[in-house]
Amino acid sequence: ENMVSIFDSNLLQNQVNMPKEFIWPSMDLVNTAQEELKEPLIDLSVMKSGDEEAIASAAELVRKACLKHGFFQVINHGVDQELINDAYCEVDPIFNLPINKKLSAKRVHGGVSGYSGAHADRYSSKLPWKETFSFVYNHQNDSNSQIVNYFKSVLGEDFQQTGWVYQKYCEAMKELSLVIMELLAISLGIDRLHYRRFFEDGDSIMRCNYYPPCKSSNLTLGTGPHSDPTSLTILHQDQVGGLEVFADNKWVAVRPRPEALVINIGDTFMALSNGRYKSCLHRALVNRYRERRSLVFFVCPREDKVVRPPENLLSKNEARKYPDFTWSSLFEFTQKHYRADVATLQSFF
Ligand code: SIN
Ligand code: FE2
Repeated sequence: ENMVSIFDSNLLQNQVNMPKEFIWPSMDLVNTAQEELKEPLIDLSVMKSGDEEAIASAAELVRKACLKHGFFQVINHGVDQELINDAYCEVDPIFNLPINKKLSAKRVHGGVSGYSGAHADRYSSKLPWKETFSFVYNHQNDSNSQIVNYFKSVLGEDFQQTGWVYQKYCEAMKELSLVIMELLAISLGIDRLHYRRFFEDGDSIMRCNYYPPCKSSNLTLGTGPHSDPTSLTILHQDQVGGLEVFADNKWVAVRPRPEALVINIGDTFMALSNGRYKSCLHRALVNRYRERRSLVFFVCPREDKVVRPPENLLSKNEARKYPDFTWSSLFEFTQKHYRADVATLQSFF
């Protein structure tokens, strides 16, 4: 295992020469966004209003965005802004823990939960300039304190309150994801409850991202170019900015909006729409002066469920774009192959 780690605070404080492991190939760095993505802002309050005309126009905006690049932002999403603020307040205590503590809760290869710093396993020489802390959430778990229990068991009793904040945050995100699943179904012209039912019992993954400032921010990336293998991502980024999407053959910035959540389609949903909706490459830059934080919630189907588009999407003698697969098999594949291009995903099938 590579021993250069961003967990090493000396590296961050006395960083004069950039360790070579963090220097990314220029092809990954080029064309830093000059423009912003023109993603639609979807007013989700229409989903509660029952105004079918308003819902249809929201669905149409979603459809256009998903056919193109798979990114949109939602406002009036119903998630308490206080809860989002609280979730940010809990990020630093997690990453301020001593390195030994972090290493004892390190995310193991092929695992989902715990810390990851600059692990060489997926990225070989290209190490991301970030730390992450991830955990699993299941909406149908009998325990209403699963996240609390996880935080207490891996980080200690002091993290009980932190656990409650993320418990509430995950509950809110999962509820929201099911509303978005309805909107996606409407946008594809299928049974409104189809995807909601499909995703109800799946595990979700929650991840806190912390990107330290970087003096050589132009040589590295916080998150390299990738598409999300998961189904739907609900992301909040702070006001520093840095999320970029590869759309129309160039990198464009996703504008940080405190009141909005960024939604994007992942590979598994792309397959569920029979390739109609795009799972798009994106990356996160680091900032020379300011640390950056983001909160990401990944929605996945139950791991053993067969991923297959609904019949209505296949009716017009349309060929299947992807054969059946399970989320667990795709996840296993992504642990071995860093997907920065469409060809890599093709080799899974
Ligand atoms: C990611 O796509 O994994 C992270 C993006 C971000 O931090 O904005
Ligand atoms: Fe991502």
